[in-house]
Amino acid sequence: MHNVIVNTDISKGKISKHIYGHFAEHLGRCIYEGIWVGEDSPIPNTKGIRSDVLEALKNIKVPVLRWPGGCFADEYHWKDGVGPRESRKRMVNTHWGGVVENNHFGTHEFMLLCELLECEPYICGNVGSGTVQEMSEWVEYMTSGGESPMANWRKENGREEPWKLKYFGVGNENWGCGGNMRPEYYADLYRRYQTYVRNYGDNKIYKIAGGANVDDYNWTEVLMKNAGWLMDGLSLHYYTIPGDFWLGKGSALDFEEGEWFITMKKALHMDELITKHSTIMDKYDPDKRVGMIIDEWGTWFDVEPGTNPGFLYQQNTIRDALVAGVHFNIFHKHADRVHMTNIAQTVNVLQAMILTEGEKMILTPTYHVFDMFKVHQDAELLAVDASVGTYEMSGETLPQVTVSASKDAEGKVHVSLVNIDHQNEASVSLELRGLQANPQVTGTVLTADRLNAHNTFEQPNNVAPAAFNGAIVEGGKLNVKLPAMSVVTLTIE
Ligand code: AHR
Repeated sequence: MHNVIVNTDISKGKISKHIYGHFAEHLGRCIYEGIWVGEDSPIPNTKGIRSDVLEALKNIKVPVLRWPGGCFADEYHWKDGVGPRESRKRMVNTHWGGVVENNHFGTHEFMLLCELLECEPYICGNVGSGTVQEMSEWVEYMTSGGESPMANWRKENGREEPWKLKYFGVGNENWGCGGNMRPEYYADLYRRYQTYVRNYGDNKIYKIAGGANVDDYNWTEVLMKNAGWLMDGLSLHYYTIPGDFWLGKGSALDFEEGEWFITMKKALHMDELITKHSTIMDKYDPDKRVGMIIDEWGTWFDVEPGTNPGFLYQQNTIRDALVAGVHFNIFHKHADRVHMTNIAQTVNVLQAMILTEGEKMILTPTYHVFDMFKVHQDAELLAVDASVGTYEMSGETLPQVTVSASKDAEGKVHVSLVNIDHQNEASVSLELRGLQANPQVTGTVLTADRLNAHNTFEQPNNVAPAAFNGAIVEGGKLNVKLPAMSVVTLTIE
């Protein structure tokens, strides 16, 4: 039996909706095909952006979208991507598959996408191979309203009013594909580049410094010490990889229960990473002004057989759905420091929400978790005390159930639970302190009967949410029966 107490009258602060952010890179078929098909495409589109994908993303209330990379950001020269499309410069996307990038999706198209999604744009600038002037002028181009060379150019290119731009990243993975720098060197570069990321008019930029890779705590230490007061956010990247990054990550579809267990263990590792990086940040920023921005996370498997290794296309199963649920419960717990996260990536790349094939589109199990958890966006995090049993394999143990809860603006309480055990259900005794004795409970469950259950273009609803009837009010408590490998969200009012 697992015992959970939700204190419905103890708020621990707000769960920023930006925890449910996304990331779309010029990588494989994410931007091209997945999002941008062009105005002349036979695939129904809104000014070049495919309408089916747009509608699906609107439904999960994407709050913020990071672009253009990733590693691509530190090779991207934004001036190549504005002006008449037919005369935009063509380049080779050396990092991702060596394909030709025609720059048809540039600043104007990205801003249009964000407007249509009603989400905040989060742009990542080029430190690795770009100049300070180039970065400075990009911000001027996007946000300056008055008379200025870049504002004039933007107007010539068809956009009179400046855009609102809050989130701006000063480089990406500068310890790796963004320049192979040492933290001391990047900290100095960050100080220099960010100086020229100006606020025009009433547009106020939230500056995000490139952060650590996984458990590189020294990177966080050096950045906070040498530039902490000049940043609003510091990023962290961590991917859930069951195998080895270089020797073989593991298959998205063809795996056994041992790999399931390792995947869950590695997903849970996010908690330790946040805790330890936060402890360092606390030393320099005890008031938690600087947000931890986990702008790349999710599963990373070997590419699907027969697909371009540089395109990072992978299928998505119930295992991915549980990884997402486990992450959200961890992010909620750390909502005081974690201000934003961005899953990698939105369409057709890594742990995608959506897969496309020509004009066809399917929603992945991960998409459904984003849908089920959207009730937590901007809600009050509630204090939870959980005493849960274990999930064991080969002498190793993990907590079988993870949980988080929030209260929305209408006073409804939402509890999300994840049972990571692949073969045993979990009985949870849920006490709702501070609520009336006989509340109304409704719920949604996402589960499956096979480890690798997934959706295909032929069978798009193999893994789909269903009404949950496994929560019964008894003796002032809720008895919840979570099926094996399931994600459940309950609404209590
Ligand atoms: O998301 C794929 C890649 O992973 C990104 O481009 C890079 O930042 C990270 O290494």
